[in-house]
Amino acid sequence: MRVVFLGATKGMGRALARRMVERGDRLFLLGREGEELQRSAADLAARHPQHAPVGTHACDLASSATFAAALDAAEAELGGFDTVVVTAGLFATQDAMEADVALAEQVLAVDFTGTVVFCEHARKRLLARGGGTLCVFSSVAGERGRKPVVLYGAAKAGLSRYLEGLDHKFRAQGLRTVTVKPGFVKTGMTAGLKPPPFAGEPEAVAQQVLRAIDGGLPVVYTPSIWRWVMLVIRWLPRFVMRKIGF
Ligand SMILES: NC(=O)c1ccc[n+]([C@@H]2O[C@H](COP(=O)([O-])OP(=O)(O)OC[C@H]3O[C@@H](n4cnc5c(N)ncnc54)[C@H](OP(=O)(O)O)[C@@H]3O)[C@@H](O)[C@H]2O)c1
Repeated sequence: MRVVFLGATKGMGRALARRMVERGDRLFLLGREGEELQRSAADLAARHPQHAPVGTHACDLASSATFAAALDAAEAELGGFDTVVVTAGLFATQDAMEADVALAEQVLAVDFTGTVVFCEHARKRLLARGGGTLCVFSSVAGERGRKPVVLYGAAKAGLSRYLEGLDHKFRAQGLRTVTVKPGFVKTGMTAGLKPPPFAGEPEAVAQQVLRAIDGGLPVVYTPSIWRWVMLVIRWLPRFVMRKIGF
């Protein structure tokens, strides 16, 4: 695969990018400008020295003006791409966002508007060359309105619906949309939060997501147990949701 990867500097994105490079996929990294992006590219290049160096370009989900140039650079370096992966995202606690509307606005802008607009750029380019895979990390937080993730969950709910719509509209034209819905996974994003019983590790998530990409699965819950947890949560009546803290 020739993969454009937004979010490979940390957490689940880093684990997935490493796994892809190690099996021979070619990657081009997009991300916020800085040392982390260069360090990640060097780390990936060292894992597959037979490949050309891993290229990078600045791309910030908070700034849609960066999207077209970033994808142009990826196209030029990879000679076209067949896969786009977006693991980049922003999290803040519900308490922090309730106390700071500007922070809430930032999370909503990155996780919904920025991600959707970036996907629109990517979708057009993939379809222009006959299709490909668009794999995007949403969250189980978008499955139901829940007290601890009212705002973050709203952004991810919108993102999940958008990706579902893309799958319905464009799969017949060759666009394989893979929506990843992680439960709680131990990364920098969740550092400081109390892990629930089914907390996952980024490496296991990466393995599962790569299988989903290869198989073109439209939705993947990871760790898998979250599929069943969310099945129950989706069916809980509203009066129960008001009572519980989940
Ligand atoms: N961890 C969980 O439990 C969990 C659960 C459900 C869903 N998710 C979702 O899964 C995805 C990956 O999560 P993670 O836990 O692996 O996160 P993470 O370790 O915090 O990594 C987040 C990544 O997003 C990038 N990023 C943040 N803001 C960005 C922006 N404005 N523009 C471009 N890149 C940006 C970061 O790049 P920098 O190096 O520039 O910071 C980093 O590569 C996210 O979409 C997250 O919402 C996570």
